[in-house]
Order: sequence, then C-alpha cells, then structure tokens
Amino acid sequence: MDEIISTEKKKVMLSGIQPSGDLHLGNYLGAIKNWVARTDEFDNYYFMADMHTITVRQTPADLRRRTMEQLALYIACGLDPEKNTLFVQSHVHQHAELGWVLNCYTMFGELSRMTQFKDKSLKHKENINGGLFTYPALMAADILLYQPDFVPVGEDQKQHVELCRNIVQRFNGLYGDVFKMPEPYIPKAGARVMSLSAPDGKMSKSMPEGCVFLMEKPEDIARKFKRAVTDSDTENCVRFDLDNKPGVANLMSIYSAVTGKTYEEIEQEFAGKGYGAFKPAVGDAVIEVLRPIREEAAHLLADKAYLEGVYRAGAEKASYVAEKTLRKVYKKIGFLAR
Ligand code: TYM
Repeated sequence: MDEIISTEKKKVMLSGIQPSGDLHLGNYLGAIKNWVARTDEFDNYYFMADMHTITVRQTPADLRRRTMEQLALYIACGLDPEKNTLFVQSHVHQHAELGWVLNCYTMFGELSRMTQFKDKSLKHKENINGGLFTYPALMAADILLYQPDFVPVGEDQKQHVELCRNIVQRFNGLYGDVFKMPEPYIPKAGARVMSLSAPDGKMSKSMPEGCVFLMEKPEDIARKFKRAVTDSDTENCVRFDLDNKPGVANLMSIYSAVTGKTYEEIEQEFAGKGYGAFKPAVGDAVIEVLRPIREEAAHLLADKAYLEGVYRAGAEKASYVAEKTLRKVYKKIGFLAR
C-alpha cells in the first residue's frame, strides 16, 4: 500500500452564532472566517444558536427565516457540509439537558460578572429573565457536549469560554476527567470589529447604521464606509493609533483582515492620500469579499430541500456525539440508567 492512512483522530473545533439578527461583518471576521480557514485540519461542529436567542423576545417567523439564512451563509462562506457538522441547536435536545446540569455547577457570582448579561439587562430592562442570566451555562453545555479542543470566537465571547473552563475545572475536580478543557481561539485581525458610525462600540446589529450585513447590497455597503467616522483631528492621515484614532484603526483592521495586508503596508499604500481615498477603498475591498458569499447564499436559499437535508444530517451526527457525553455525565452525577 503506497498510501499512508492516518489513524490519528483530528482535534475538534466548535462554535455557534445566534440567529437573533442578520449576520454581519463582525460575525464574519471575528468568527466564521476563522472557522473556514481551519476546516480541513479539524473535526468541526458549527451551529445556529437559536435557543440562546429567546433570552430576548423574537418574532417567530423572523427567527425561522434567519436560522435558514444563517445556514445558507455558513455554507456560502465556505463551510462545506461534508467537512463540517452544521446543525440547529434546538434540534439536538442534549443541549437543553446538559445545560440544566451545568446550571447546577455554575455559581451566581460567576454569572453576575458576565459583561453580556450586564449589557443586555440594561438594554432590555423590561425582560431581565432567568435565561438571560444563566445563558453561559447553556453555552458551556453547547461546547462541552462535543469535547472540543478549540472554540473559535471573537473577543466579546472570550469571557463566556473562560467561564466554561471554570465549570470544567469544577466538574472534573468532583468527578474525574469527564470534559476536555477547551481553549478560546481568537483571530489576530478582526477579533473586535467596531461600529463604523460609533467606533467606541463594537459592530452589532442593534446599531444598523454602523453595521455591515453579509447580505447587504454593495451600494449600501459603499455608503456606510464613505460615511464611516474617522477622527476629529485635521491630520487626515492613515496611521494606526488605537487611542487617538479609533475609527481609522478600525477601518485599518477591517482592511487588513479582508486583504491580508499589514498595517505598515496599508500606511504606505495610502500615504499622502487621506481618508477620502482610504474609506471607499476599504468599502470596495469588503464588497468584493462579500459579493460571492451573498450570491451563493441567495442561490442556496432557493433550494430549501437541500438546506433541510444539511441540517437534518447535521443534527443526527451532532446528537450521536452529544449523547455519548450526556450519558457519561448522567452516570457520573448519579442519575439512574434507563
Ligand atoms: P454572537 O451570536 O453574539 O456572535 C457570534 C460570533 O461573532 C463574534 N462577533 C464579533 N467578532 C468581532 N467583532 C464583532 N463586532 C463581533 N460581533 C460578534 C462573536 O464573538 C462570536 O464568536 N454566545 C454566543 C453564541 C454561542 C456560542 C456557543 C459560541 C452560543 N453557544 C458555543 C461558541 C460556543 C454569542 O452570543 O455570539
């Protein structure tokens, strides 16, 4: 036999995104791009985190549409369903079950410190529900069911992955090596994409003027970049200075993430040209990266049967793996076997 067949098991990558809004450039650069880049090296699980979205009220029909659209975009961004297990969180019942167990191993104090909880409870004062508070325990279950080595996320989710690591330490300390310790995996460029209109806050769907959506029309994207806030000094010079020029630094990091150019190369490219040339150039680069993604997603969305086939196969595979972990956990904590 001239071919060497590797019997070594691949390491596992896992992550998810909430279909609570349309996918945007922050999700792409902070998360999905990083998933696609390592697809061949790992055994991959990527899901639509629909169970997390109901911590904030959703319109049911919109949630369904966005969940499908998110799957189409995952594939269009380059996640081949043959190489990645793509599934809907609520289709794999083990998430809710392990989520409950881990709730009982997560401390009130730990949950109280989560910045996402603090932010969202300020934003949704009328609906500070239990799910919003205990959400990180469900996220830990999402992760630990698949025993991943790495969890590729943007900077803002690092705190939740750190909490998951605390839960692993606590649980394994009591019951032995049940869970593998996961590592957050944060990209070098794009880990924290800021809003184009208010660059002191992260890009998010809740501020649509400063947010570039993956399915957005090129002319709208171009307009948002042309209007992007740079800085109030009169220097008009493309230079990376996070403290004094956060808007320019954000545009530079977006340009770097989509073109692969270093900050020095970008400074040289725009030396003497000013923001008037720089802002549309960043817009054009983003438009060109998103164009094939948008077109492919639209094409996939026209074939609902195909997408349904993908998420059904994904749920079946995910459920098989998740069940093994759940059985192990139930046994360890003393639940009687069926
Ligand atoms: P979510 O849905 O808010 O965001 C999904 C991913 O996109 C990244 N991201 C950003 N990265 C850079 N710049 C931004 N402006 C930006 N905005 C969002 C996030 O860091 C994230 O990686 N709790 C998670 C979803 C989740 C999950 C999980 C993730 C549920 N279970 C298990 C990993 C593992 C969330 O709300 O992400």
